Amino acid sequence: MKVHDLVIVGAGLAGMRAALAALEAHPHLDVAILSKVHPVRSHSVAAQGGINAALGEHDSWEAHAFDTAKGGQYLGDQDAIEAMCRDAPGDVLDLERLGVIFSRDEQGRIAQRPFGGAGAVRTCYAADRTGHAILHAMYEQLLKRQVFVYEEWYVTSLLVEEGRCRGVVAWDLVHGGLRAIGGKAVILATGGSGRVFLTSTNAVINTGDGMALAYRAGVPLEDMEFVQFHPTTLKGTGILITEGARGEGGYLLNTLGERFMNAYAPEQMELAPRSTVSLAIGREILEGRGMDGCVLLDLRHLGRAKIQERLPQIRQLAIEFAGVDPVESPIPVQPGAHYQMGGVPTTSWGETDLPGLYAAGECACVSVHGANRLGGNSLLETIVFGRRAGLRAAESLLGLAPRAISDQTLRAEAHRIDALMDRKGPERAWEIRDDLGRVMSRNLGIFRTKESMTEALEQVRALQGRAAHVSLQDRGRVFNTDLIHALELRSLLDVAETIVAGALAREESRGAHYRSDFPARNDRAWLKHSLARRTDHGPALSHRPVTITRFPPT
Ligand code: FUM
Repeated sequence: MKVHDLVIVGAGLAGMRAALAALEAHPHLDVAILSKVHPVRSHSVAAQGGINAALGEHDSWEAHAFDTAKGGQYLGDQDAIEAMCRDAPGDVLDLERLGVIFSRDEQGRIAQRPFGGAGAVRTCYAADRTGHAILHAMYEQLLKRQVFVYEEWYVTSLLVEEGRCRGVVAWDLVHGGLRAIGGKAVILATGGSGRVFLTSTNAVINTGDGMALAYRAGVPLEDMEFVQFHPTTLKGTGILITEGARGEGGYLLNTLGERFMNAYAPEQMELAPRSTVSLAIGREILEGRGMDGCVLLDLRHLGRAKIQERLPQIRQLAIEFAGVDPVESPIPVQPGAHYQMGGVPTTSWGETDLPGLYAAGECACVSVHGANRLGGNSLLETIVFGRRAGLRAAESLLGLAPRAISDQTLRAEAHRIDALMDRKGPERAWEIRDDLGRVMSRNLGIFRTKESMTEALEQVRALQGRAAHVSLQDRGRVFNTDLIHALELRSLLDVAETIVAGALAREESRGAHYRSDFPARNDRAWLKHSLARRTDHGPALSHRPVTITRFPPT
């Protein structure tokens, strides 16, 4: 079996930043990255609006930390928030030195735009393709350092022996076949799980695999009930229409032509935190002031030149996927699942409860976002905590001798995949996946109730039952995407169950978790994190306290 020093699962920004950090500090290390897609197809590439850092002279990391804690309705751990906001300016300037081409202001400095829930102009951007700009620069750095990438490998299980994570078992998509790949430390950087929902800004690859791998290895998942619904996705598609469009001055209108945010957040208007804007849009639609399940995002007053300079991709997407040119007409938008605030609990150095296992980026819960993430803090999280996890994991394995690993997990996984390949069941993975998306979007969307979630839990369990009868239409070994979809389905179902269980238990409204039957925030009972641990009978829930340092909940 090949044994690397450090194995990183996921080649998005968190994974690549972790690899670079490990190698910058310890160039002799053997670092490998596994990804189910080519690295530049990782979902980080789709991030549009920007990355937060208090670079301006009228801003400070403390103000950034305050906005983050408040925007997350005080559920974020403030020691981790402080670490992220303090490191942000240095990490963003490092990106620039690594070759990221940011947009510029008139003085030639990195340009920044206003974003929701922020008390200062703090979001650094590269037009509306910020993730694209960063991901490609980062990939160039990987190539420069000749990091070994297992391209198009799907991890099916963690290798855990004697209480320590010692590598992964992965399927080689291109050639077919399962291999055990050893690592003295493993970092999960697999991104989010938005595809649990039917309408999502997330790529089809975002199936919560890293969260599910950790969960199945006995690590609990934290705060999974907090799923962010981005206020503006393109009608009927889930395609992200960046908050940057509102940051540049776009208005939200209902069918009466009113800027309805005036009724919900008169000071912040369209730049209120996302949970507030999504709820407002949801209400406008519910009360009949929407159109075809949408409201309108009006950019016309910005003018062609500004739209073309700052929001070129948004214009292109609106024209191609909705037949609307924002220079001439408002864009129909609706909220869509965007981001999982919960995930694998880590320290602010990426350590999990399982020795040898680290996590960073969206699959992790550090936790900095609390109940609602501020726009622009997601790219930041990948960079800051990717770097930190890479450094800490690298330090931890120095001096560790390679160790033989049994082939027990590999054999069990091979048996599971052979059984799936041979099965003659009536079910198809894609059908169950669609049904799951429908249930979750309908029953655990912006508005939740005990009834809707109880029904969802029953449905998710029924879908788990059906998943046991999935059979494949493609039984070949080479590039079998049918097989991968069936494997991903297990991740989606595991993650969905933790979301529903956490949401059903949390009898309050906070940030992205809005319960029509418990509309108020309840700090006395619920200012605490949820932990969902896997059992044979579904997730067992427990809690842990929130770390408050300098910003008492108000
Ligand atoms: O709206 C956006 O551009 C998304 C940014 C984010 O989620 O951080």
